[in-house]
Amino acid sequence: MADENLAAVVHHSGGSYPVVAGWGILDDLGRRFLELDLKGPAYIITDSNVMNPYGRQAQLALQKHGIAAHIFIIPAGETSKSFSIVQSIYDWLVERRAERGHPIIAVGGGVVGDLAGFVAATFLRGVPFVQVPTSMAAMVDASIGGKVAVNLPQAKNLVGAFYQPRGVFADVQALSTLGKRELAEGWAEAIKHGFILDADLVDTFEQHAEALMDVEPEISTQVIRRSMAIKAEVVSQDERETLGIRILLNYGHTIGHALEASTEYGRFFHGEGVSVGMMGAARMAEQMGMISSELVDRQYELLRRFNLPTSAAGVDIDGIFRAMSMDKKIEAGSNRWVMLEGVGKAVVRRDVPLDLVEATVRELIG
Ligand SMILES: NC(=O)c1ccc[n+]([C@@H]2O[C@H](COP(=O)([O-])OP(=O)(O)OC[C@H]3O[C@@H](n4cnc5c(N)ncnc54)[C@H](O)[C@@H]3O)[C@@H](O)[C@H]2O)c1
Repeated sequence: MADENLAAVVHHSGGSYPVVAGWGILDDLGRRFLELDLKGPAYIITDSNVMNPYGRQAQLALQKHGIAAHIFIIPAGETSKSFSIVQSIYDWLVERRAERGHPIIAVGGGVVGDLAGFVAATFLRGVPFVQVPTSMAAMVDASIGGKVAVNLPQAKNLVGAFYQPRGVFADVQALSTLGKRELAEGWAEAIKHGFILDADLVDTFEQHAEALMDVEPEISTQVIRRSMAIKAEVVSQDERETLGIRILLNYGHTIGHALEASTEYGRFFHGEGVSVGMMGAARMAEQMGMISSELVDRQYELLRRFNLPTSAAGVDIDGIFRAMSMDKKIEAGSNRWVMLEGVGKAVVRRDVPLDLVEATVRELIG
């Protein structure tokens, strides 16, 4: 029978894996686990916010199928993506005599996913890894594609690997416990998927903005599945970001990252930075004659309906430029910009004049 919750299948150099999303599917984790031919005991890594109820629920779902599951709880927050936490998880795994066939399961947001994935990639030179994303960013972005990482004091995600999970299982119902601001910043990433690759998804967002902010089950699940499928499609085509396809997912990220970094990650959530960055990129595309002002307005209106920021008053311009010059996407000294040519159609441009970038950033912080 067809799996109605299957959002996509990711294909990569080492095989493929299912990306599944449904309402209330966490209780089904044990069955999914066995379907993937995984063997217990399993090692769940979760955080202090997600443990109750989701970490516990995942453990019970596995136990129901006779799979023993141990839990390691990290403090919630970005600072946990550190080598000292990685070391304590290694110690815990050694103490519990974890073996090469024993899977690590990440139950949580992108922090848990990146960290648990890094541990899975390195412990015993790699153990099976399963993603159970609970935040929006983790569902539509971080859990798919195999990028795992930890932060160094110098910068985020500086040490990591490509390490693909054996499966991604998202219970969309978990989004109901996110705050409105967290929800909106998550939808920003999915809205971005629409603008770069899927005009129909942009229509859906416009038709159902309020229902999506209320996490109405049917439409939320449908949009999460579509957004996951877009990410899955992109990473299947360009697993290691070498073909210029995966970079399209960085629409809004050049300015967005710079805003986050130059305000020391204290003012903007990631999706909020991306929202402002999308406006910057759209305005530049308009100035370069690539898109109409109607498209810029359409993007603006949609972001505003999700209460997302579209400008960044008062941020220090030198700080933004310093951060942009450290962007990982820089090649031969110049920023590569993801820009729209239409709704659902993005391209990479290396020829954006510096004075246009400067004028646009000045307007955003105006
Ligand atoms: N690997 C990738 O491709 C990739 C892509 C995007 C982002 N990331 C990484 O992901 C991280 C950001 O992800 P994030 O926004 O999920 O951060 P996060 O994991 O810190 O989660 C945000 C907050 O929400 C809480 N939370 C998670 N699920 C919840 C739920 N269902 N209900 C209530 N609270 C919940 C968490 O405890 C945390 O406090 C960053 O470290 C970023 O670098 C990785």
